[in-house]
Amino acid sequence: MRFNIAVIKGDGIGPEVISESINVLGRIAGLYGHEFIFNEYLAGGCAIDAFGEPLPASTLDACRASDSVLLGAVGGWRWDTLPGHMRPERALLGLRGGLGLYANLRPAVLYKPLAGACPLRADIAEKGIDIMVVRELTGGMYFGDRGRKQTENGEGAWDTELYTRMEVERIARSAFDVARQRGRHVTNVDKANVLESSRLWREAVLDVAADYPDVTLDHLYVDNASMQLIRAPHSFDVIVTTNMFGDILSDEASQITGSIGMLPSASLGRGGIGMYEPIHGSAPDIAGKDAANPIATVLSVAMMLKYSFKLEAEAACVERAVAKALESGARTADIMSDGMRRVGTREMGELIVQHMMI
Ligand code: IPM
Ligand code: MG
Repeated sequence: MRFNIAVIKGDGIGPEVISESINVLGRIAGLYGHEFIFNEYLAGGCAIDAFGEPLPASTLDACRASDSVLLGAVGGWRWDTLPGHMRPERALLGLRGGLGLYANLRPAVLYKPLAGACPLRADIAEKGIDIMVVRELTGGMYFGDRGRKQTENGEGAWDTELYTRMEVERIARSAFDVARQRGRHVTNVDKANVLESSRLWREAVLDVAADYPDVTLDHLYVDNASMQLIRAPHSFDVIVTTNMFGDILSDEASQITGSIGMLPSASLGRGGIGMYEPIHGSAPDIAGKDAANPIATVLSVAMMLKYSFKLEAEAACVERAVAKALESGARTADIMSDGMRRVGTREMGELIVQHMMI
């Protein structure tokens, strides 16, 4: 089969981790007889430098016309002082909103060989971690009205959390559908003891749950959820939550699996296009040093194969190769531990490719 992939390398470590992931797709093409056509577009800080805006219309249009989007990371110190609408991060929000990618799947899995990199107590880690965070991605505070105003105490600023029933119902359906392919357990995370938007959120989740009697549903307030993730991560299967809470909890979920450098993500909408990116940022401090962990992006490619192209065997091939590379003792700096072999971005990528077989 033949697929057109829009590639946005972005800034910082983006280009390095993308280049390893493209090699992985190249190997899949060779092993399984597919053709991947890569077209590169600019977004983020590099687009600000080249075009004066973080997300040129030409990039968004090209992504719309592709089968799928592969993104590295955007952002960096150089652009940190620009006004909000001109920051590199606007490119991500513009892509998510512009492509209608409302469902963000972020799997946090503790790989057995990485148990030593898990910051939790051994008796907690050994029970395993396998969580899918389903984060709403095109609504809530990220997309709500915001502004500045004068108050009697001087200048103030505000952001709005607004969710419609429709937005909650569709993300809840995504979560329940995902749960059916896993442990059939959804934990809804909100702040319904304080926020009206959370009360509507919870009502809508409960309505959708009626269509999924085979899936267990429970509810946690976000503060409690962040504690339970540390205390008993094995008690979670699928977490469904808002854009804002999902941003925070997915970083926490990633760190308890050893490193944020391990976590991939898929952003999906109603249409066929999906966008795939690591959940980590552009890490400007280690950019260009062959020090970044490419695994989060490589695993994002596996998600692309599975969710956008419906190539389950190919996705499993990539995942197996990542596990084997880790079993071989190779470790990038972020997951390094005693007795392991320290490798750079390129060597980790090459090892994964070598371990790929049908
Ligand atoms: C993420 C990132 C982004 C977000 C930033 C870079 C805009 O933190 O994908 O989690 O907050 O969604
Ligand atoms: Mg984040």
